[in-house]
Amino acid sequence: MHYTSLGKTGLKVSVAGLGCGGNSRIGLGRIPEAESIALVRTAIDLGVNFIDTAENYETEPIVGKAIKGLPRDSVVISTKSLLGSGAGPKSGADMAAALDASLKKLDTDYVDIFHLHGLSPNAYDRAMGEVVPALLREKEKGKFRHLAVSETGPRDTEHKMLERAVDEPLFDVVMLAFHMMNQNARRPVLEKARANRIGTLCMFAVRNIFSRPGLLATTIAALAAEGKLPPELAREKNPLGFLVHAAGAQSIVDAAYRFARHEPGIDVVLFGTGSVDHLRSNIASILRPPLPAGDVARLNKMFGHLVGVGLDLPDHVTAGKLAAKS
Ligand SMILES: NC(=O)c1ccc[n+]([C@@H]2O[C@H](COP(=O)([O-])OP(=O)(O)OC[C@H]3O[C@@H](n4cnc5c(N)ncnc54)[C@H](OP(=O)(O)O)[C@@H]3O)[C@@H](O)[C@H]2O)c1
Repeated sequence: MHYTSLGKTGLKVSVAGLGCGGNSRIGLGRIPEAESIALVRTAIDLGVNFIDTAENYETEPIVGKAIKGLPRDSVVISTKSLLGSGAGPKSGADMAAALDASLKKLDTDYVDIFHLHGLSPNAYDRAMGEVVPALLREKEKGKFRHLAVSETGPRDTEHKMLERAVDEPLFDVVMLAFHMMNQNARRPVLEKARANRIGTLCMFAVRNIFSRPGLLATTIAALAAEGKLPPELAREKNPLGFLVHAAGAQSIVDAAYRFARHEPGIDVVLFGTGSVDHLRSNIASILRPPLPAGDVARLNKMFGHLVGVGLDLPDHVTAGKLAAKS
C-alpha cells in the first residue's frame, strides 16, 4: 500500500480508501453480514487504513464489527450525517445526537473524521451558523478529530458548496466528485484545497458509468445528442478503448481508478464494492503508475469541459424516492 498525508490533519492514510456507501455498501443486502465484515478485514489486511461510512449507508455496524479487536489508531474512520432527512432539517443538537448514534453503531469512542454529508450550497449558511458550532463542542469532548464536508454530486454539479468550504479554516477534509468524464472540480476545489492543506477524498471514480455495461455508450450518445461531445464519438463501438493497451490501462475500471489516484490534489481515492475480487483488483489499480501522459491529455481534451456527468444517486435512494412517490 502507499500512504499519504491527509492535508493538515497529521493522519497518514492509504491512498486507497474503502467506501462503504454507493451502490455496493460493502455488500449489504447482497451477501451475508459475515462476508461484508470479512471484506473490510481483507481491505485492512491489504493495507487500507481509511474507511468511509455514513449514518444513512447503514454500514456502520459492519465497520464496527470489522475493526473490533484492532488497535483503534490503526484505522482512520470517517462517517457522516445528513443535515436533513424525511423528518425535516436537523438542528445542531440533532447532529450531535446523530454523531453519538454513529459512535454507538461503530462501537468506538471517537471517529477520526465526521462529515456534514452531501451538504447542498443552499444549506451551507445554516450549517455554518447552527450546526457546526454544536458539532465543534462535541469535537472538544473528543468525539471526533476532524470536521469534514462531502458535496452532493448530482445536486451540486459545479461544486458551489465546496468552493466555499475549501476557504473555511474549520474544515480539515472535503469529499468531492471527480472522474475521467467529470473533471470540473480541479480549479474550484482541488487547487484551493492543496493551497490550504485541506485533505481530499475522491468519490465517484467509477460509480455506474464505468462499471455498468452499456452505460458509458448511452451516456456518450446522450451528450453527443446535446452537442456536448462530437457525434463521431457516439458512433465508436468502444469510445474509451484507446486507454487499454500494453503500456496503458488494463481495463476501463483500471483506467478510472488510476486517473483519479494520480490527479494532483487528490489524497484518497474511495472505492466501493461488495466483491472481494473487485476489492483486490481496485487496490491493485490504485497502486499502479499514472496512465500514460498522452492518454490523460486526451481524456482532458475530450471531457475537460463536461459538467455533472455520471453522478447518479445510489440505487437504494432512488428506489426509496420512487416508492415514496408511488
Ligand atoms: N455525497 C457523499 O458523501 C458520497 C456520495 C457518493 C459516494 N461517497 C463515498 O464514496 C465511496 C465510493 O463511491 P462509489 O461507491 O460510487 O464507488 P466507485 O468505486 O466509484 O464505484 C463503485 C461501483 O463500481 C462497481 N465496481 C467496483 N469495482 C469494480 C470492478 N473492479 N469491476 C467492475 N465493477 C466494479 C461496484 O460494484 P461491485 O459491488 O459489484 O464491485 C459499484 O457499483 C462510497 O462508498 C462512499 O463511501 C460519498
